[in-house]
Amino acid sequence: MENTVQETKKRALSCIQPTGVPTLGNYLGALRNWVSMQDEFDCAFAVADLHAVTVKQEPAKLRTQISEMFALLLAIGLDPEKSLLFVQSQVPAHAQLGWLLACQTQFGELSRMTQFKDKSARHADNINAGLFSYPALMAADILLYQPDYVPVGEDQKQHCELTRDLAIRFNNRYSPTFTVPEPYIMKTGARVRSLQDPTKKMSKSDENQNAFVSMKDDKDTILRKFRRAVTDSEACVRYAEGKDGVNNLMEIYSAVTGKSMEQIEVEFDGRGYGDFKTAVGEAVAAELAPIQERYAVLMGDKAQLEALMKQGAERASYVANKTLSKVMKKMGFVIAR
Ligand code: TRP
Repeated sequence: MENTVQETKKRALSCIQPTGVPTLGNYLGALRNWVSMQDEFDCAFAVADLHAVTVKQEPAKLRTQISEMFALLLAIGLDPEKSLLFVQSQVPAHAQLGWLLACQTQFGELSRMTQFKDKSARHADNINAGLFSYPALMAADILLYQPDYVPVGEDQKQHCELTRDLAIRFNNRYSPTFTVPEPYIMKTGARVRSLQDPTKKMSKSDENQNAFVSMKDDKDTILRKFRRAVTDSEACVRYAEGKDGVNNLMEIYSAVTGKSMEQIEVEFDGRGYGDFKTAVGEAVAAELAPIQERYAVLMGDKAQLEALMKQGAERASYVANKTLSKVMKKMGFVIAR
């Protein structure tokens, strides 16, 4: 900490699983906000690889995806000199506190988690204990760093609520230990929808490749996907009810260029959807290009990437271990000296 101003900053933490390349929706809706949060908050960001093995993973692929996600977080502008940036499995305190919190979590609470119900339906052949107790590990990810805020999407709010319950329960049962965090729903995050069915959220697991833009898509691919995006037959670029496809494209264009809906309407007044879609594609490609360049450089130097991971893990461990040893002492464990 360089000055007293920094010490009074609120803290924020979030994590992302290393499963697949994030979409433009993940970027505009979440990741880009992490970058801008770095100045306002003391932040910690992690690649949640321990969470990824709650479903079957091919080892070589998982290994690559962990490095790729870490490199991508650096490439978008997360700065290891400003924020804690690390790979979860390299900080053993997560698994350790995860166990301790699992022992404070009731079977009934975990059974109510909608993500567990969804995932166990989708992976009926592998309903493992980790998938079930995942929210206790997520609570550990969070509580170790004593954050005030946890920037997450709607789908993780229930897990954040459980985290709060666990923090309050622990604080009451032992003594005040954990900051009780709040979910932080981004005010600026765009809600990007599928390019093929704008009533659905843009998803990387969509079987239709044209429905989403991946952060690694090249310019031609991006332009082609936007050209094929679903619109309507009105041929007028305006933001209005019933124009889900056009609204979605306008939101993307606005998020990337900073232009308001009115400015966009004026810009494309009297022009068809063809021009508009090309402009959106160009703007998105221009936004992603510098990230992709930095990403390529980072992936080209594995030694440096691993050194950054190691440094991040050491810095995170320092913070996490302090919380962990407090918890262990309070619970009655004998701490090795
Ligand atoms: N469970 C989150 C997801 O699937 C990822 C995650 C793991 C997370 N630990 C976290 C998010 C802690 C916020 C805070 O998207």
